[in-house]
Amino acid sequence: MPLAFPRSRRLSSVLEAVGNTPAVRLGCITKDVPGVEIYLKLEFANPGGSVKDRPALSMVQHALETGALSEEKILIDATSGNTGVAYSLIGAALGIRVELVMPANVTRARKDITQAFGTKLTYSSPMEGSDGAIVLCRSLVEKNPEKYFYSDQYSNPYNPLAHYRGTGQEILDAFGDRITHFVAGLGTSGTAMGTTRRLREHERPIHCVAVEPAEALHGLEGLKHMASSIKPAIYDPGVLDEILPIGTEEGWDMTDRLGAEEGLHVGHSTGANVCGALKIAQRLRSAKQEGCIVVIACDRGDRYFAPMKWEKKYTW
Ligand SMILES: Cc1ncc(COP(=O)(O)O)c(C=O)c1O
Repeated sequence: MPLAFPRSRRLSSVLEAVGNTPAVRLGCITKDVPGVEIYLKLEFANPGGSVKDRPALSMVQHALETGALSEEKILIDATSGNTGVAYSLIGAALGIRVELVMPANVTRARKDITQAFGTKLTYSSPMEGSDGAIVLCRSLVEKNPEKYFYSDQYSNPYNPLAHYRGTGQEILDAFGDRITHFVAGLGTSGTAMGTTRRLREHERPIHCVAVEPAEALHGLEGLKHMASSIKPAIYDPGVLDEILPIGTEEGWDMTDRLGAEEGLHVGHSTGANVCGALKIAQRLRSAKQEGCIVVIACDRGDRYFAPMKWEKKYTW
């Protein structure tokens, strides 16, 4: 079959490349669940390589509009990585300085990528995970409120709003009445909250599911075990139909399968999301029902090359 390429878009800034991501159907993973389609929405197609470009851009744009952020201030936030990459890219594109607080044990790749944009990094304790980064970031801002604009992705309504306006709308545009289920992982919860709220407005019910790590100490980078974490202010579990706990091993195994069987080299949180989607698909199949499940692919696997995931020594 000859390849057909869509017409190239001409953009005036890299920021215009954020959003409008494709969704691809999984062929092999779904072979035992005929009648159920699973589509991955490839958020790694954003210019910063992850689902976090959308909320970062939305929060920065709003802060610039209100004057809370300007070239005189430093944008600061606590981030385990992908939001940091997004802030760094956006800051560089707009001429705004960025400082990130992250646990010292985030992957080498994340540190290198953010610093490549000129971002300053401050490290929190590797033992305290993303919560330790939040606490340190808050204390830096308290000591120097004039110096910083604290974007605070865990509390900022413009995080879920980016997914309400973007991700959710794009899913409805692409799938319309076809979609029956939606699956996203819980980190800040912005993706799950914002997208679900938009899908709720569709005239036919769409079952919206969040995936979270089954254990407090886990290796699904980007996801939060809510019961043992500082609860994000934007998180409202009442918005969701269901929360599915997924173990680190099963998430990692699915990540390997997506690479080997589908040609999709993704991060572990995406593996966990697809694991959740497959459980739903198996449930539908047992009930002799059909379905169309749309799942978020948060980022690409090459972000996790160091330390090597295959050594399975990395604990988050
Ligand atoms: C790899 C990865 N997966 C999942 C998520 C969760 O997304 P959200 O913060 O929208 O809940 C994040 C967020 O940082 C992430 O970096």
